[in-house]
Amino acid sequence: MARISEQSIEQVRNAADIVDVVSGYIQLKRKGRNFFGLCPFHSEKTGSFSVNEQKQIFHCFGCGVGGGVINFIMQIEKLEFAEAVQFLADRFNIQLDITGSSRPRELLFQLRDIHEFAARHFQTNLKTAEGKEVLQYFADRGLSRKTISEFRLGYSQTGWGTLLELLRAEKYTADAMTQSGLFISGEKGYFDRFRGRIMFPLQNTQGKIVGFAGRVFKGDDPAKYVNSPETPLYNKSRILYGLWASKPFIRESDPVIVVEGYMDFLQLFQAGIQNIAAVSGTAFTDNHARELRKYSRKIALAYDGDKAGISAAVRAGYVLLRNGLNPSIVEMPENVDPDDWVKQAGPGPILEAVEKAVDLLHFQYEKSAGDRNDPSFNAGFVKSVLQELVLFEDRILRELYVKRLAEITGLKDETLFRSLEDLLQRRKQRLPRGKDITKTETLRKPDSPASLKLEDELLQLCFSTDHSIRKLIYDHFIREWFTSPSSQRIFDAVFIHLPSAGSPDINTVFDALENDSDRRRLSALLMEIDKISTTPVVAKDCLTRLEKKFIDAQLDAKRQQLKATASGTVEFSQLLTEMDLLQRKKKNAGKLYSKS
Ligand code: CTP
Ligand code: MN
Repeated sequence: MARISEQSIEQVRNAADIVDVVSGYIQLKRKGRNFFGLCPFHSEKTGSFSVNEQKQIFHCFGCGVGGGVINFIMQIEKLEFAEAVQFLADRFNIQLDITGSSRPRELLFQLRDIHEFAARHFQTNLKTAEGKEVLQYFADRGLSRKTISEFRLGYSQTGWGTLLELLRAEKYTADAMTQSGLFISGEKGYFDRFRGRIMFPLQNTQGKIVGFAGRVFKGDDPAKYVNSPETPLYNKSRILYGLWASKPFIRESDPVIVVEGYMDFLQLFQAGIQNIAAVSGTAFTDNHARELRKYSRKIALAYDGDKAGISAAVRAGYVLLRNGLNPSIVEMPENVDPDDWVKQAGPGPILEAVEKAVDLLHFQYEKSAGDRNDPSFNAGFVKSVLQELVLFEDRILRELYVKRLAEITGLKDETLFRSLEDLLQRRKQRLPRGKDITKTETLRKPDSPASLKLEDELLQLCFSTDHSIRKLIYDHFIREWFTSPSSQRIFDAVFIHLPSAGSPDINTVFDALENDSDRRRLSALLMEIDKISTTPVVAKDCLTRLEKKFIDAQLDAKRQQLKATASGTVEFSQLLTEMDLLQRKKKNAGKLYSKS
């Protein structure tokens, strides 16, 4: 299928002024900020069809249609998106840049080349004045020249379009450039995703570069790491950092040591601990487990010794367990990561700790906070383990771990088996067939019109000209706080544009919406946008109220569950604890972002 480049679509949008285009079909009269006319999509006597010149959108207050100029042509000429673009291009004499029929192989080749080119560029940057500082930083952290060159570390310059300009001269297709994920589309076109960052190339098991991670260097960007997005080359949930280099060592010696960070990997590898891999920029997934299973069954998780590290290790442990692997967890000194540890103490202590790594359930039991003599502690622990075990497809594995759980907690096997059966039953009832419990979305019943107003308001705030408001939403809002699927879809479409310097390009967002009714809703909201006051205070209030409603819904659900649960059981006391937690969360809602 032929594909029109983003740039061409942009040109069409710029040339085809919506007032001009619509005027070709109906008569428009200016009234205040907007133009009005008789709607061409439904019959009416008063003009409720309006066009906003500044925003370049249309909306009918009568029948609800709406969108940008391309959507208008799609609807009035009954055309598909690409045809509508072509139609407008013809009319405004624009030569469309259409990239050839689908030749995916070629796209992949181009993407590989682009990544290789970029990696070389980042490596060369180490020779610039700024790059010298990065080299000094590497030296201070104890990375050797050999490590730096073997893993092809580099640096991305601070300019907005350094890599973009270089690659433009190389004549790659616009499609390949876009799909490389190395550039971000902003208001004024594309710019480099990675700027002023230490660059870690992400390589597949063949050693081919498929993406990058960039660590903040001197800038004040709050994002410590920026990673390549998913691309045709890069599948986040599958790639393990460094595995291309470590796989011969992994085959030779058990177990595979899994660490959380790029620096952890490099430091250990350099110190001679080479049966190792790192997750990159994501939690440990089933795909990671399957990837590792090709090399070894035994996995030692060496995550940070802090709270976050401990709970991430436990989660990763269960992923490994349910994929039939044999995980153990390395006890790290408190608040030390493998990187620091090996630098301070050499490889000896880590190797020793790997040797002594503990079984997942024991580790989790030890690390759970609370008084072991308190019955509700045991209840909570049992519940959290059973909730993991219920996800295991393999019955035998399930039973084995229930037995172990009984040993650890001193509870009777039968009690635990009964609780597990209970959970399995409930899971079956709740889930549509073939769906994984971990993936089911918690979609609530859409709220009453009155509360949908709040969702409307938040969507409008996403288009605020105030960067701090958009950033606030980007950093703190969670799409699940919306009850309406339509709100969630619109939010998904605008989300990546929130942190850009300028307010999101309305037409780009419209084009990302597949659903006609979503476009109607959004056009209606945008037409009203000038009427609402968008101050950070209003925004924070809106966020807080949505979060609270979300928590309320969870509380309601728990209350229902509680009613159906016999008091005195493990589940009952667990539910009470969970509700307590939710209450506390509700009280604190908004505090986090009210400070920022
Ligand atoms: N990570 C990420 N995005 C972030 C923070 C972390 O993708 N904003 C991932 C990276 O893969 C990182 C790992 O989580 O390597 C561990 O994070 P952290 O311990 O914060 O960083 P380190 O890699 O240890 O980096 P450094 O030691 O240089 O601070
Ligand atoms: Mn670190």
